Amino acid sequence: MTVVAGLARRASRARNATTRSAPKGNGNVNGKRILLIIGGGIAAYKCLELIRRLRERGVAVRVVLTRAATEFVTPLSVGALTNERVLTSLFDLSDEQEIGHIRLSREADLLVVAPATADLLARMAGGHADDLATTVLLATDKPVLAVPAMNPHMWTHAATRRNVDRLAADGIEFLGPNEGEMAEGGEVGLGRMAEPHEILAAIAERLGGASGASAALAGRRVVVTSGPTHEPIDPVRYIANRSSGKQGHAIATAAAAMGAETVMVSGPTNLTDPAGVATVHVETAREMLEAVEAALPADVVVCAAAVADWRVADAAGSKIKKSKGKPVPKLDLVQNPDILRTVAELDAKRPPLVIGFAAETDNVVANAKKKLRTKGCDWIVANDVSAGTGVMGGDRNSVHLVTAKGVEDWPRMSKDEVARRLMERISKGVAKLRGAK
Ligand code: C5P
Repeated sequence: MTVVAGLARRASRARNATTRSAPKGNGNVNGKRILLIIGGGIAAYKCLELIRRLRERGVAVRVVLTRAATEFVTPLSVGALTNERVLTSLFDLSDEQEIGHIRLSREADLLVVAPATADLLARMAGGHADDLATTVLLATDKPVLAVPAMNPHMWTHAATRRNVDRLAADGIEFLGPNEGEMAEGGEVGLGRMAEPHEILAAIAERLGGASGASAALAGRRVVVTSGPTHEPIDPVRYIANRSSGKQGHAIATAAAAMGAETVMVSGPTNLTDPAGVATVHVETAREMLEAVEAALPADVVVCAAAVADWRVADAAGSKIKKSKGKPVPKLDLVQNPDILRTVAELDAKRPPLVIGFAAETDNVVANAKKKLRTKGCDWIVANDVSAGTGVMGGDRNSVHLVTAKGVEDWPRMSKDEVARRLMERISKGVAKLRGAK
């Protein structure tokens, strides 16, 4: 979780502590206006997806590209997505009657700077106004969300730390950066720009109103498990798996965006906690079960975590030492609790809709049908994770929804899209249950 600063308005209002918490809406952003300032970094390409998604939700997006940003995305592609003239320099505003920089900076509900590069943050912190982006940022009276992306060393450099601290004190909100592999050179660390769905959730959290179609799950409580579990061998070693948590986090994000009160119980991942989701961080399967039970009652439980099936019977209290001549240690494994089955077998507290995932490498649908019976859940989302599909850790998924009524084969799509579709199905399922009551 790397939200650096609390939510706040610009300098003039920043000191008032009562304005520093985000208004909680139901995520409906229809009709809102965003001014997106795209900085010059490789992550700029993610803004195209962000714009597309904002537009899908009825958000008007106007874009300012810094000069460097035009090296990464073109005004033409951005303009095609926003359906608005893309602004790249102060001279674009030469017709001041049409749209001046003051008006431009104030007619949006929120300004989003993404990617917020080290240089752009430094110029913002210094109060520069030597191009359209910085001028607009200096002139605005609206909240600003900065989404940094840079090399990990640049992010941790004392100069960037100073700039971020100063901007946070000025009331700028930060989302990310995330930890992970950099686009350039395969370097790993803190510096990846937050994903479009995370930015979208942060925007929805900030601007989401109190009515509209996206309130389909308002008043409902959804619990989601996500990520892997880590099962200790000793204090420094553990058994884990390759789950990234992307699918589970996307489901929690989608649930919150539809107005559900959402709790996500997550094992260790490199992802940012989704905005508007109460996230409980756990390490082991037993901790995950405990946290899920504590989060009940709920209307829906979605078990998307890749829970380790086994744990070491007696994890060592201190580091197991290797020494010459000593036999290689043997790991005595015992079964972990099955969270999905435990929840599905509850009596009074059983949620009306319990959904599991089945990651399979062979006979995907047949195994998922079997799992539906053995686990006692209502739906299974089955996916093929065999080598070469790139599903484990990747951004795309191709799933089959298995219910008592039959099997739906969904086309290959992004994990975010799977999450949105699933939540739409869930909201219909919940509405039917409501009708049946
Ligand atoms: O048995 P298998 O691991 O294939 O089942 C997958 C489904 O069961 C997933 O929904 C997963 O989150 C859930 N599960 C669980 N607790 C376990 C093992 C799996 O909740 N110990």
